[in-house]
Amino acid sequence: MIRLSKEELMFFKREGYLVKRSVLDADLMARARDRLWEGAAPSQKRDEPDSWVGPFKEEEENEDSQNRRKGFRWNFREPGGESWMVQLLATDPNVWGMAEQFLGEGTLIKPERIRGIYCTLPYGDVPHRSTTCHVDGHPFHLGVVGYIDYVPPRGGGFTVWPKSHRRFYYDFRSQYRTEPTDQYDKDREFVNQQPYVECHGGPGDIVFWHHRIGHAAGHNHSQQIRQAVLYDFRKKDLEQTMEELPCEDMWRDWAGLRNIGDD
Ligand SMILES: [Fe+2]
Repeated sequence: MIRLSKEELMFFKREGYLVKRSVLDADLMARARDRLWEGAAPSQKRDEPDSWVGPFKEEEENEDSQNRRKGFRWNFREPGGESWMVQLLATDPNVWGMAEQFLGEGTLIKPERIRGIYCTLPYGDVPHRSTTCHVDGHPFHLGVVGYIDYVPPRGGGFTVWPKSHRRFYYDFRSQYRTEPTDQYDKDREFVNQQPYVECHGGPGDIVFWHHRIGHAAGHNHSQQIRQAVLYDFRKKDLEQTMEELPCEDMWRDWAGLRNIGDD
């Protein structure tokens, strides 16, 4: 059983994210890597790495949100509702147990689906560009990104701006909805000047992240497709707490973090 230490909980509280290595089930990850290719474009061949390089050819782009292919992004949401996919990430006993450590045992909504398999194609010879952050608007508490294959440095890893959750949390009119105040853009400008952390790693590694942390999908200058599975943990009382103003204690809803020190 993998659980978080007090130090790890404190790290998350302070930095807004946390990486745990080798968590996900190997068989389910293999199944997900296989399943992905059912959504591939005709010219993408699993055994020909040269065919993975983006962007998608214009005639192979797909607007269908279940299998969206555009530019360098490939969001394969179709298998997200299959029970084994939910089990791969959200209800994996280790992932679930750790999420409950953050938010409280018995408080989480049972998931019916995860977001799906989100990919970034290799950029090929596209020059390096700087990266900027955003904050997600849809209501949830705790995000988790899981890698089902290697994500080398500069390979499109989930990128976070440490500590920005403490700033951005107060930049919305409500706790969990998308209603940014004027301060949001100002803080975004500030945060974009701060150093970021690109979470690279191997199959089975996961990244937990606070719902208001500044983040981005990293640029993929590796030779392989960045393959990640994503889920957003929500608490059963989200409907009631969603519209509330940001709390003076931003950890009020986090049973496992509320009362631990963070400096
Ligand atoms: Fe996002």
